[in-house]
Amino acid sequence: MNNLIDIMQLSVEEIDELIATALDIIADPDKYAESCKRKKLATLFFEPSTRTRLSFEAAMYELGGQVLGFSAANSSSAAKGESVADTVRTVGCYADVIAMRHPKEGAPLVATRTAGVPVINAGDGGHNHPTQTLADLLTIYRKKGKFSGLTIGLCGDLKFGRTVHSLICAMSRYEGVKFVMISPEELRVPRYLITDVIDRKGIPYEETTSLEEAMPKLDILYMTRVQRERFFNEADYLRLKDSYVLTPEKLVPAKSDLIVMHPLPRVNEISVAVDADPRACYFDQVLNGKYMRMALILKLLEVKV
Ligand code: CP
Repeated sequence: MNNLIDIMQLSVEEIDELIATALDIIADPDKYAESCKRKKLATLFFEPSTRTRLSFEAAMYELGGQVLGFSAANSSSAAKGESVADTVRTVGCYADVIAMRHPKEGAPLVATRTAGVPVINAGDGGHNHPTQTLADLLTIYRKKGKFSGLTIGLCGDLKFGRTVHSLICAMSRYEGVKFVMISPEELRVPRYLITDVIDRKGIPYEETTSLEEAMPKLDILYMTRVQRERFFNEADYLRLKDSYVLTPEKLVPAKSDLIVMHPLPRVNEISVAVDADPRACYFDQVLNGKYMRMALILKLLEVKV
């Protein structure tokens, strides 16, 4: 594999290898401190980001490498009309690996054709976000010790929430998984994921509008933000944005070993009072994202430590 555009490019065995590398980095960070010396990562972010861009940059620095890039389309020559293909062909002359976020679905795939170096999809429109899924998988593994036999509640904007799409694909490969998809009617998970992934694999699932009814069944509750930037109509966003707000009271009927996840940023969908609950794992995901991105960079650059 030379790129990571879709989480399904990684086999279950490759996910296991990345998790093993991430756990080894956590146990012995010094061993990796110079593993990417003289290598450069370019972060090309045509859309805003805090976690993904900065965790990629922290990951490369902790591997002894260097970082260059831009954090907004308007600070690059994209603002003058340069194509994605030409931008990455240029950056491929300067960097050994590229992490790219773009508002258009498929833009990182287009980038792979001219980059000449590995390209990582750091989020493309409402489509996919495979490295968030790597962060999510390490979090699930560290909290649950397994991926099989889990009932996963996905709550909020399941239509535009790209992290949900990648997580459904990744978790669909494990035995005994069930999905409970909790959303307003207008923000249900795209049909292609039901037909091509969930139904095709015979995975049990339900779609509901009620978080309260779903709560007692769940091993994982994956909350999401309503993705304002993907809406065509501000009135629809305002009507739907507070459909689900997780509070300590709503967690009362939940399992004692539930884990509450969120890719962040949150707006209003998890009350800050939930942060003190030991089941809240969303800041663990932030840290785990850095370790999994370190493991991914090592893999794509074929660095052996
Ligand atoms: N989870 C995530 O992608 O966060 P950022 O948008 O801050 O990168």
